[in-house]
Amino acid sequence: MPHPFSGRVGELYDRLTDLIRDTYDDNFHYGYWPDPADRGSLAQATEQMTDQLIARLDARPGDTVLDVGGGTGQPALRLARRTGADVVGVNVSRHQLDIANAKARAEGLHEKVRFDFADAMDLPYPDASFDGVWALESMLHMPDRPRVLREAARVLRPGGRLVIADIALRAAVEDEASRIAVERFCAIVSARSLERIDTYPRAVVEAGLELLEITDVSAHTFPTLLEMLDCYRSAHAAHVAVIGEEALAERVETFESIVAVPQFGYVLLTARKPSATP
Ligand SMILES: C[S@@+](CC[C@H](N)C(=O)[O-])C[C@H]1O[C@@H](n2cnc3c(N)ncnc32)[C@H](O)[C@@H]1O
Repeated sequence: MPHPFSGRVGELYDRLTDLIRDTYDDNFHYGYWPDPADRGSLAQATEQMTDQLIARLDARPGDTVLDVGGGTGQPALRLARRTGADVVGVNVSRHQLDIANAKARAEGLHEKVRFDFADAMDLPYPDASFDGVWALESMLHMPDRPRVLREAARVLRPGGRLVIADIALRAAVEDEASRIAVERFCAIVSARSLERIDTYPRAVVEAGLELLEITDVSAHTFPTLLEMLDCYRSAHAAHVAVIGEEALAERVETFESIVAVPQFGYVLLTARKPSATP
């Protein structure tokens, strides 16, 4: 049984997944633009985000990687194709799991990539059973992030890496308008809160991991917010059909205000489980 909050997140993705695939992308995450002045396509930028994580994870053929919050499977399949690693994805959305497993079969990768129904806060895998773990934009949905980090540390083998990409805050949000914008954003995307970039290092260390690198990549991901606003406008009817006129107006208003919040950002981090000492 997933945590009640995770159950609600799963239901949200069950309801919105087809809409997001049709109007945004099959990667359910931000884009990464190496040069933010050169917009390039969203589809290219979302794959470039996955590639940022692939580079940090350093997985090898024969490794087994855990994908925490696997979406419709696009990033895990790219990881398997690019590195030769096997991937197990976990998710709390049944609909996304069906899509992800069907995609792995359709690509002939079902023996290397599979997706299980499981809550990241309570992983059904033995200790030290993965060579790497990544959480590509799933941490924001977790009501108990320290517990997810402890679970990731538990299932990692000594020396294995954890890579996180997360929507996060670059500093404390002090003014009232920005605070309200962040709160409304959290409510819309089913997040209890956003992690502060400067609190991540301590959280990772408290879970028993060593921090290797943490990078504020907000400048490289910012165009995503503009792409989302474009997508709400250009696919207006499709959104109204699924979420209704009022909820769409609230979404647009929230994204318009969050664009102006300088603390609203994005972080990439890499950590490692310490190797066993002889
Ligand atoms: C923003 S999407 C990212 C999906 C995917 N990583 C990608 O980049 O395309 C967040 C994902 O995390 C999953 N998720 C949220 N809370 C979870 C939890 N407690 N346990 C497992 N998966 C969870 C959601 O169902 C969704 O698939």
